[in-house]
Amino acid sequence: MSRQRLIIAITGATGAVYGVRLLEHLRGHAQVETHLLISDAGVLNLHQELDLNRKEVEALAGVVHNVRDVGASIASGSFASAGMIVAPCSMKTLASVAHGLSDNLITRAADVVLKERRRLVLMVRETPFNLAHLRNMTAVTEMGGVIFPPLPGFYHRPASMEQMVDQTLGRVLDLFGITHQLTPEWQGMKAGSN
Ligand SMILES: Cc1cc2nc3c(=O)[nH]c(=O)nc-3n(C[C@H](O)[C@H](O)[C@H](O)COP(=O)(O)O)c2cc1C
Repeated sequence: MSRQRLIIAITGATGAVYGVRLLEHLRGHAQVETHLLISDAGVLNLHQELDLNRKEVEALAGVVHNVRDVGASIASGSFASAGMIVAPCSMKTLASVAHGLSDNLITRAADVVLKERRRLVLMVRETPFNLAHLRNMTAVTEMGGVIFPPLPGFYHRPASMEQMVDQTLGRVLDLFGITHQLTPEWQGMKAGSN
């Protein structure tokens, strides 16, 4: 079975850990070949939040693309992929996708994924939201994209930040039908809970 290509972008919203753990989980995955893009602001946050530099994160990916290389393979719809995850997704990148700007390879690749009717998941992160943010999320949803803010659930009783992050990422991978062991399937409430 040939591996499906999955485009992953890390942008400058807080939550760089989502992109990094996603790459760690998919590294060596039998089903998936990752194609990575990191924006300049994404590099800043990788350093600020995780003490990681660009090279260390790029080493986790199957294929690495330069954000300025709008002539790259993933800029064309003829390049087959399962879709794209932006983890985390800044409001700036969200706005660019919502308005079809294609002003760098991240937003061009997202534009291509949408036009080819493939799966686009934006792990948008900001708080609180202004009206532009909300309208841009609506626009992307209307185009078929999935707005997936990394908001943790607590009903699994996560014991660590790692478990919180993994639970969210497991749900993201479910959207692509990618197998994982990140979070157990919910088995219902405990007996005697009501
Ligand atoms: C430490 C730090 C945290 C940030 N957190 C957010 C955030 O949570 N959401 C957001 O939309 N922008 C955030 N920003 C601002 C973005 O990095 C900035 O808008 C940048 O231009 C986004 O560019 P990009 O989408 O190309 O990565 C943050 C910036 C810094 C330095």
